[in-house]
Formats: sequence, structure tokens, C-alpha cells
Amino acid sequence: MRVLGISGSLRKGSYNTALLRAAVGLMSDGATLEAESIKGIPLYDGDLEAAQGIPPAVQALKDKIVAADGLLLVTPEYNNGIPGVFKNAIDWLSRPSADIAKVFGDRPVGVIGASPGGFGTILAQNGWLPVLRTLGTRSWFGGRLQVSRAGNVFNAAGELTDEAIRAQLRKYLAGFVDFIRNRTPGG
Ligand SMILES: Cc1cc2nc3c(=O)[nH]c(=O)nc-3n(C[C@H](O)[C@H](O)[C@H](O)COP(=O)(O)O)c2cc1C
Repeated sequence: MRVLGISGSLRKGSYNTALLRAAVGLMSDGATLEAESIKGIPLYDGDLEAAQGIPPAVQALKDKIVAADGLLLVTPEYNNGIPGVFKNAIDWLSRPSADIAKVFGDRPVGVIGASPGGFGTILAQNGWLPVLRTLGTRSWFGGRLQVSRAGNVFNAAGELTDEAIRAQLRKYLAGFVDFIRNRTPGG
């Protein structure tokens, strides 16, 4: 059982990348999580796509999603919504549209996120809902993880130091893995 996680932040000191890193070590037995990033993905430009096709960084990520059993989006929140850089990456990953079914269709997807503010990316997570629905994913709603006050949850090295959040993250991941395992195609 392989899950691919993507952090939606490019920042070296990103809380969301730190959350994804922590998740890698908290997967339940028999399941692995690979941490990926959106680095190297250009701004979507239809002319670029027409002239050069899918950029290598996008194709590589597409291939990894296809090879995985589930996808975990670790989203920051900007202006009460999805950060443009993360949406841009998913927009590229949805090209060409003929590949949407292969990349996203019926794919188990979870969304978590971290923010230094008090609401822990709740609005960004909600913002993903129409996107994930449009792409035909099988989104998991059985658990939620909104890490607020992220500055108190990770240390300067980006390690998760809050035991309560660690327990919540472990529980979220176990639930997501169960959801992937128990899925009934088409059901
Ligand atoms: C343009 C911009 C808008 C932001 N808007 C929000 C917001 O609406 N809600 C929130 O909780 N944090 C907001 N923040 C703060 C981010 O949560 C914070 O920068 C966070 O560290 C970003 O995630 P990262 O650490 O993974 O890079 C905003 C940050 C930026 C740069």
C-alpha cells in the first residue's frame, strides 16, 4: 500500500512540508508514504503545453500518482483559500484532460494542512472540495486534521514536537489507509 503525499508549499521552512515529513514516519503497518513537492512545476500556460507538451516535472508527478494507491494533499492556506502555486500544480496534473480519469479518477484522496493561525487551513481544505469533485476523486471525509498555531507544533528543525498533534496525525493516516484498503471499486 503506497500513498503519495504532496506538500503545497515551496518554502524551505514550510510547516506543511514538515507535517508531510512527520506523516512519513507515522504510517500504519504495511503502508508507506512518499513525500513529494511541487518544485519545478511552471505556471500553467496553454501555449507552453501546445508547443512542448507536459513539462517533465509534471509528468514525473503524474506517473507517481498513477503508481500510488492514494494521494494525500498537504495544503497551506492563503487568503482563506487554496494557494495559487498548489492549485497551479494540480491544474497541470489534470492535463491533458484525457488523463484525468487515469490520474485522479476514483483515486482515494485525503487533505490535511497546517497554518500558524488559529483555524489550521479549514478554509483551504474546504476550497479543495470542488476541485477534487470535478476531478472525480474518491475523497476521504472520515477524518480531519487542521494543524493550527503551527509555530508551537514544530521545532526550529521542522520536527513535529506536539504529542497531541502526532496522535491526531497517526489516527488520520490509519483511517485513510483503512479507507484505501476497504474501498470497493465503483462502489
Ligand atoms: C499570501 C498569503 C496569505 C495568507 N493567508 C492566510 C490565511 O488566509 N489563513 C491562514 O491561516 N494563514 C494564511 N497565511 C499564512 C500562512 O498560513 C503561512 O505563511 C504558512 O506558513 C504557509 O504555509 P507553509 O508554512 O507550509 O509555507 C497567508 C500567507 C500568505 C503568504
